[in-house]
Amino acid sequence: MGPNRLRSKGPNLWRSAKRARCALFLRKLASYRTLRGVTTLSFRPARADDLERLVEIHSLAFPDARGAEERRRNFLAKPFGPFADLHVAVRGRGGREDIVGHAFGFGLSAFVGGVAVPVMGVATVGVAPEARGGGVASALVDHLHAIARSSGMVASFLYPFRQGFYARMGYVAAPPVVHLALALASLSGLRDEAAVRRANGDDRAVLHQLYGLHARQTTGMLVRTERLWQMHFSHERRAFFLLERAGAPTGYVSFSLEQSEPHGETRLDVVDLVGATLGDRLALLGFLHGLRDQVSEVDLCLATDDPLLVALGDRDLDRRRFGTSRVEHALGALATGPMVWLASPQAALEARGYRYDGVFQLAVDGAPFGFVVEGGRGRVVAESAGARVAFTARGLAAVAYGGFPLLRAAALGWVSGDPDALYAAARVLDVPAWNTWDRF
Ligand SMILES: CC(C)(COP(=O)(O)OP(=O)(O)OC[C@H]1O[C@@H](n2cnc3c(N)ncnc32)[C@H](O)[C@@H]1OP(=O)(O)O)[C@@H](O)C(=O)NCCC(=O)NCCS
Repeated sequence: MGPNRLRSKGPNLWRSAKRARCALFLRKLASYRTLRGVTTLSFRPARADDLERLVEIHSLAFPDARGAEERRRNFLAKPFGPFADLHVAVRGRGGREDIVGHAFGFGLSAFVGGVAVPVMGVATVGVAPEARGGGVASALVDHLHAIARSSGMVASFLYPFRQGFYARMGYVAAPPVVHLALALASLSGLRDEAAVRRANGDDRAVLHQLYGLHARQTTGMLVRTERLWQMHFSHERRAFFLLERAGAPTGYVSFSLEQSEPHGETRLDVVDLVGATLGDRLALLGFLHGLRDQVSEVDLCLATDDPLLVALGDRDLDRRRFGTSRVEHALGALATGPMVWLASPQAALEARGYRYDGVFQLAVDGAPFGFVVEGGRGRVVAESAGARVAFTARGLAAVAYGGFPLLRAAALGWVSGDPDALYAAARVLDVPAWNTWDRF
């Protein structure tokens, strides 16, 4: 079957790709018209002498309680990357230049399919009130995408303030995450014979190693730099506890205690929960049960496909909370995860890892190519005789990077093919749902 047959199999995918391209063109045309003749818009890395203006825009874009000094620090000392990762949009009007927007494009590495993949993390997108609605933010994100492409990053991800805004730029939502609100009483009896002790400075290498082993099994966990680890270690209310079996460390938990005022309610936010086995992670939760006299509730964020969710399922996690006539037992909250965008489908497929081999003839938004997976890595070839599967670009991003199950994506019309081909592709391309403990 040649490429044309493949195309004719997915008319809906073709139409939606065409619509998306059309919308992008119209958007660009609209912003060009707005700016044409009156203003110009350019982009450059931020400079130290931009800081006052950046703080001004930031304060209006994110009007929380932070003061100017904290906002300055926020720009200069982000643990995810240097100040050089901050880019500004500059509007020129009548010979005068004015910064009208800012955004970080961090160069990060995230695990996908057991391999660390170079990705961009987009954050702190803000536009001055007087420049809004003219395409500045869209153009700034486009600019970051161009940097990502030219720097060899194969994907970008971000935590959206509104998904619709970034969906227009080609981002697709990874599956939602679950924030369990655990009543401490429900964690009784989980502790086993393993020893748990407070981690100290000498344990840093062990913590790095345990985190790395865990992160490799997940989708979206970051390769933590020294700077990022330092952020975790220097947090004033963060504590690390190691689990040891027969004297060997097999897991750790890190958490923050939160109390808004003296004598107020104390909550515990789990940050890292790492174990060589599910039993290790459960034993660490059992250890937290020891804080029941102080802590009212534990917040534990899990990917929706994390087996821990099932392992904890029958423990009356909402003990001491009441339900309503409609919801008898609320276990927590379902929250949006990040959104993902691929710089190039082929480069993204080649950059990640795979657990199973396979041979496919893929099409992404109608563009066909062969794809061969062997020994954990994938390679794009001109054509192959493998299973034929057609994706939309967003569908591929959702499945191959977001951890959205392929068969569910098929039900949404994001991917099409014969049932056998879809099952074969799901076996090779599916990864766990994206979840990272380092949010920005
Ligand atoms: C969000 C923000 C960056 C947009 O900047 P901007 O330069 O006005 O954005 P653009 O001009 O590129 O895009 C504006 C378009 O996005 C749409 N948009 C804005 N907010 C949106 C939302 N919450 N959901 C969906 N679309 C939205 C606008 O309706 C407009 O659409 P139109 O072109 O069809 O009229 C700006 O409003 C801002 O700084 N907000 C406060 C900070 C913030 O929330 N930042 C995002 C952090 S992730």
